[in-house]
Amino acid sequence: MENIRSDFPILGRPLADGTPLVYLDSGSSAQKPQVVIDALVECYQTYYANAHRGVYQFGVQIDEALEGARERIAAMLGAAEVEEVVFTSGTTMSINLVAQAWARMVLEEGDEVLVNEMEHHANLVPWQQVVRQTGAVLKHIPLTDDGHLDLDQLQNCLGPRTKLIAVTGMSNVLGTINPIGRLVEAAATVGARVLVDGAQSVPHAAINVQDPAIDFLAFSGHKLYGPSGIGVLYGRRELLEMMDPFLCGGNMISEVGLTESTWADLPAKFEAGTLPVAEAIALGTAVDYVTDIGFEQIGRIERALLVEAQTRLQEIPDLVIHGPDVDHKGAIISFTDPRVHPHDMAELLKRKGVALRAGHHCAMPLHARLGVVATTRVSLAVYNTSADIDVLIEAIHYARKVLRRD
Ligand code: ALA
Repeated sequence: MENIRSDFPILGRPLADGTPLVYLDSGSSAQKPQVVIDALVECYQTYYANAHRGVYQFGVQIDEALEGARERIAAMLGAAEVEEVVFTSGTTMSINLVAQAWARMVLEEGDEVLVNEMEHHANLVPWQQVVRQTGAVLKHIPLTDDGHLDLDQLQNCLGPRTKLIAVTGMSNVLGTINPIGRLVEAAATVGARVLVDGAQSVPHAAINVQDPAIDFLAFSGHKLYGPSGIGVLYGRRELLEMMDPFLCGGNMISEVGLTESTWADLPAKFEAGTLPVAEAIALGTAVDYVTDIGFEQIGRIERALLVEAQTRLQEIPDLVIHGPDVDHKGAIISFTDPRVHPHDMAELLKRKGVALRAGHHCAMPLHARLGVVATTRVSLAVYNTSADIDVLIEAIHYARKVLRRD
């Protein structure tokens, strides 16, 4: 683990006041290993050019590097075809793309989109918009009190008008890992499509988009130890083929006349404008980085940290940990203290070098369901250590002493 940690230069740098950094906000954005930083710098320093435009040396080199990255991403996802991997700016863009280019086209008045109470706003608001635009209806699977989808209610939520189930692979607040296989089976019984928001799940566990067979998968590079501003939409070819472009301009065309245009083949049809090409290439390097460690190993490291952190947090009197037990979630723990505002908690933890997020984490309906306005969230990654958890626990005791006057 020390080896992994030393791959991330930022983790070895003290904060401005000399305190060591304890970074527990990887659910928000993960830190970057040196190899990813090097890939970015190497691209800008030695062969940068725009993609799919130049016949000169750098133009050819950049295309090879970009398409090589796409191939490695497709392999990581188990995609049947490389062209099913579309570069976007991130999860939010990927989901909006599906909402506007697929759902807006197929939804008719009275059709249904099925979401649930734990979704991030990025997998909720685009569906609210598209049902408003089409006259379709948004339904939701309720949650159990321990933060699972209430699967007993699933059959009642599905019907012949259900066209899409949009679900997160892993809750960004509770860490709940959702039963995608079960949802895919249920969707098949009514002919609905399934979109998985993989922003939180893709960095932590192996995925194969063909087993269970999902229709769309969205994720972001920056949570997968890659650069910000780049992400992916995986879409099944038959669906991507039937969709019109979401954004228009640049290289997404085949022929352009003054009054009409035709579209490029996949994936270019969905890659309008200039791609953040160096970032896409460095995302390929991030994919190499995680696949070299291996998702089994990543899972083992994060599980051990999660069990240790949750067990020790549970020992603190009055602290409420929201969501499932450690056997049913990934490496995220959100908690509240009835006598401390989460923002005050985060502020005091900061004094001890602990960086984490407090607030509604872009999941306001979930917080309403939990009956709190905000939580403090610990989100772990492969570079965290037991020593980080020691500092966290000590810092929480310190914060409570100050804020609760215990
Ligand atoms: N979606 C990110 C989070 O959960 C930003 O913090």
